[in-house]
Amino acid sequence: APIVVLASGTGTLLEAILDAADAEDYPASVVGVVADRPCRAIEVAQARGIPVAVVAPTSFSDRSRWDRALTEAVSDHRPALVVTAGFMRILGSVFLAAHGGRIVNSHPALLPAFPGAHGVREALDYGVKITGATVHLVDDGVDTGPILAQSPVPVEPDDDEQRLHERIKGVERALLPQVIGQIVTKGVVSDGRKAHIRE
Ligand code: GRF
Repeated sequence: APIVVLASGTGTLLEAILDAADAEDYPASVVGVVADRPCRAIEVAQARGIPVAVVAPTSFSDRSRWDRALTEAVSDHRPALVVTAGFMRILGSVFLAAHGGRIVNSHPALLPAFPGAHGVREALDYGVKITGATVHLVDDGVDTGPILAQSPVPVEPDDDEQRLHERIKGVERALLPQVIGQIVTKGVVSDGRKAHIRE
């Protein structure tokens, strides 16, 4: 199944997906990587011969033009699934209309706790002893879509944000490729607020 990955950063989750997809029996392949800015994720994709596109909001006069351009860049690949892996933008209504229900995100906290761009730091500052990673369907909110999978990560007393985030990313690098594989082979059952991988 063709998947498109959206990224904005160092692309270590993208690398984990690409490494998983190298396996003969992995049921998905990355056919495109799209970012909102030049970033290492784009370089990782280029180095592996995967088509890339940078669709930067600053290149468009308003958000709805950016939304349409991003949607077209992704739709060109006709993906079965879109994966946001460290993508730091909120997807617009045109994008959600085109791909909604087939967009999966990985968040470095146990949603609904600590949504948003600073979930790792907020968990650390709150003093939780267990945080984790969440893979969820993307809806029109910020990290509010139906949860598909979660994995716990302990917080150590001397953690700082970077060390905790690295530990969480280690878990994401295992969880996200696994859930992607399950989605494209088994499908997702949604009922309102909830969803699960079909057994
Ligand atoms: C991941 O922790 C993801 O959950 C968060 O941003 C990070 C992306 O890391 N949204 P990378 O860019 O894939 O290294």
